[in-house]
Amino acid sequence: MIRLKSPREIEKMRRAGQIAAAARELAGKLIVPGATTQEIDKKVEAFIRSQNAIPTCIGYCGYPAATCISVNDGVIHGIPGKRVIRDGDLVKIDLDVGFEGYIGDCAATFIAGKARCDEDVRLLSITRQAFYEGLKYARPGYRVSDISAAVQRFVEENGFSVIRDYVGHGVGKEMHEEPEVPNFGRPGHGARLVKGMTICIEPMVAAGDWPVKVLKDGWTVLTRDGSMAAHYENTVLITDGEPEILTVPEPEV
Ligand code: MF3
Ligand code: CO
Repeated sequence: MIRLKSPREIEKMRRAGQIAAAARELAGKLIVPGATTQEIDKKVEAFIRSQNAIPTCIGYCGYPAATCISVNDGVIHGIPGKRVIRDGDLVKIDLDVGFEGYIGDCAATFIAGKARCDEDVRLLSITRQAFYEGLKYARPGYRVSDISAAVQRFVEENGFSVIRDYVGHGVGKEMHEEPEVPNFGRPGHGARLVKGMTICIEPMVAAGDWPVKVLKDGWTVLTRDGSMAAHYENTVLITDGEPEILTVPEPEV
């Protein structure tokens, strides 16, 4: 069942989204050569808690950290640890924030220090743009798979591939609600989009081929071919008109 959100719930999701987006922005500044992924995670966790919010990833299905940090061929769900970030690494951070019972979920990819090649920069920018291609269809009159198809088309037109084994999702009181929002598929299928739906659109893109493997830790997802991967995600509210991205930092006053 897809849970539509009331105006009161949407207010809380906005606040959760703002904190999540601010945490993502902070992470972007902390992702520098020489930092360990655990140091970054701990600082982001402290920031989330300082906002009277909860890092909801901790304990989710036994997950041990506030953020997922995935490096280079890591696509998603990398567990922060002793790994030292090196110059040119592609670093993905994905985090969830709970505020008064509602969740904001966002992710982004950053290059630490100086990019190794133009192709890495292009991978990041295509992945981010793919989110906006999907967003064009995040409104009444379209169905979920119209978003999926737009993401896939854009990524493949640009010579990259979309991960098939993991998908975007509804979000709200739970981190993962219905519907699933894949990054692939034919248009015109799935639930009709209606006002009050809150979904995560999250392109996961490989520079090479899309098959992935999961490490023995049970979490870390890597591309099988070892190619670089990127991830970009926002929590989006469906309205009567333009979709509203909820994971944007609070405007400065
Ligand atoms: N934020 C991720 C998503 O986009 C899920 C994180 S998995 C967790 O769905 F275990 F870290 F919580
Ligand atoms: Co998500």
